[in-house]
Amino acid sequence: MGSPMTAGNILTPRNAFTRVLFLATFCAVLFLYTLRPIADHPRNFHQEIIAVSNVTQPHPRDCSLDSSHLQLLQQKYGLEDDIDYARRYVRFHRQDIKRQSITKLDKDLFPKGFDRINIQNPPMKTTCLKPLEVPVPNSPSPKTVDASDLLFGVSTTFKRLTSNDTNPMKEWAHWLTDGNGKSNGAGLVLRLVDATNEEIQEAKTNMTGMGIDVKVYHSSSSDEMAARYLSLLPALYNDSSRKSRKFLVMCDDDTFFPSVHSLLSRLSTYDHKEELYIGTFSEDVNNIQRHGSQAFGGAGVFFSVPLAEKIAALYDQCSTSEKITESNTGWGPQGDILLRKCIYENTEVRLSMLRDLHQLDIQGDPAGFYEAGLFPLSLHHFKGGFWHEAKPYAGAQVIHACGEACFLQRFQTKDNFIISNGYSVAQYPKGINFNVHQMERTFKPAPDDYGWNLDFMLGPGRKSLAYTGRKVAWELKEARVQEDGSVLQTYVRKLDDRRWSYQEGNNWYRMMEKDGIVELVWIP
Ligand SMILES: *[C@@H]1O[C@H](CO)[C@@H](O)[C@H](O)[C@H]1NC(C)=O
Ligand SMILES: *[C@@H]1O[C@H](CO)[C@@H](O)[C@H](O)[C@H]1NC(C)=O
Ligand SMILES: *[C@@H]1O[C@H](CO)[C@@H](O)[C@H](O)[C@H]1NC(C)=O
Ligand SMILES: *[C@@H]1O[C@H](CO)[C@@H](O)[C@H](O)[C@H]1NC(C)=O
Repeated sequence: MGSPMTAGNILTPRNAFTRVLFLATFCAVLFLYTLRPIADHPRNFHQEIIAVSNVTQPHPRDCSLDSSHLQLLQQKYGLEDDIDYARRYVRFHRQDIKRQSITKLDKDLFPKGFDRINIQNPPMKTTCLKPLEVPVPNSPSPKTVDASDLLFGVSTTFKRLTSNDTNPMKEWAHWLTDGNGKSNGAGLVLRLVDATNEEIQEAKTNMTGMGIDVKVYHSSSSDEMAARYLSLLPALYNDSSRKSRKFLVMCDDDTFFPSVHSLLSRLSTYDHKEELYIGTFSEDVNNIQRHGSQAFGGAGVFFSVPLAEKIAALYDQCSTSEKITESNTGWGPQGDILLRKCIYENTEVRLSMLRDLHQLDIQGDPAGFYEAGLFPLSLHHFKGGFWHEAKPYAGAQVIHACGEACFLQRFQTKDNFIISNGYSVAQYPKGINFNVHQMERTFKPAPDDYGWNLDFMLGPGRKSLAYTGRKVAWELKEARVQEDGSVLQTYVRKLDDRRWSYQEGNNWYRMMEKDGIVELVWIP
């Protein structure tokens, strides 16, 4: 609906006059384009030509403002009529370079500032800028991934599967399909606690329709939750596809794998014929003390088939009521503990740490984590409630354009902005005078915050810049792949977001005067 930026929309303007005007402009541009290089275009010549791959015709950069698109955003995000708006095309150049956590550019992001526009009656055009040119590493896109080495197991309820807040199916499709409705070869064994046959059938039909290679089974709430979790492993081992798999993976229904090529490439550094238990700790050492030194399952736990075979055979003796009692550290019996005990008490296998998996036991504003330039292999606990809230599915859409490695990559511009690609566009009006290689500690561990319990895993964090007048951020709300293959990202900043304020004397001041939208369009 209503994007101002697809070629389709440009070709169907709202009235005949704009159509004629547009065609005339377009022809003039095409004509000029044949005569002179792009760099020689007059500065204020709006329809600059950009070559977009897989599009046979040159693709005009679109600086028009589409009021229906803006009104939809207004509705969804509760914006006022008058807003500050800016749009920038970002042209990525795939190069044979390593992924940089932060790349400094010698250009401004918004050299002409923001346009003050009225959403009910926007001007025809927004400020039209040349694309910002950014280097990115060569990295593959989801459509070429072959993940048939992996079989995943998830246990959840029909309610969580279908409720607005928790429905994970789109996210699952991100890591289980090619992004285009076809399985990427990975399998999913889904267990629905106490689901009816109709619910199981409906879930299977819908997910299969999305391209997910899924088998859906019933499980019973009369089994202790921790034992139910442990029993996923024998179920994965039992699956008819096991012989062609290298790793059996247990994760939660709110685990997200943004970059499957990278995940596979990291897993390929292990010998899958060995007995392997691969995962990561909680970021919070307090949780390791409380629950034990083990894989925290929300980050994803990877078993080689030989170890899975052993554990599957041990299931009965590892899930006795005595074992279940032992797995209770005061927070109810824990599946992660039951699993660790089963492995550690019966084999010599110990956890192989894969630190780029993330359990994310963090609460509050997660910005500091997502703005740290990391390249996470998994993310977890981002659906709000007790833990933090973030939109990694929307964030990861950009990999369909610039490749896996560009998700959460940072670009710093001369006018003191940092784009954390797929999370935020942040402005630092007093300068970037802090250590960008340390996480801004905007979040906290739970339930206990000793001030240092995240430091071992995440490194000591720098001070939060909220409420200091030193940072304003537009945060990603939605993103989508457009018809021409470009990715449109919409970042929003709300006037009533108190983080972007500062104190003078007894008074608090806002750093901005209006709600704001920043749109970035990633083009090749
Ligand atoms: C892009 O190119 C591929 C192969 O050249 C073709 O199969 C596909 O249909 C094209 N996509 C679009 C959107 O034109
Ligand atoms: C779920 O989302 C839809 C569409 O956004 C909305 O109409 C509906 O009221 C929501 N349901 C709940 C239970 O929040
Ligand atoms: C399946 O899809 C239908 C139609 O879109 C929807 O109404 C229903 O809630 C979906 N059910 C599940 C389990 O996803
Ligand atoms: C595994 O398969 C065997 C044989 O088909 C069956 O007896 C057993 O119950 C299955 N176990 C699980 C955990 O699914």
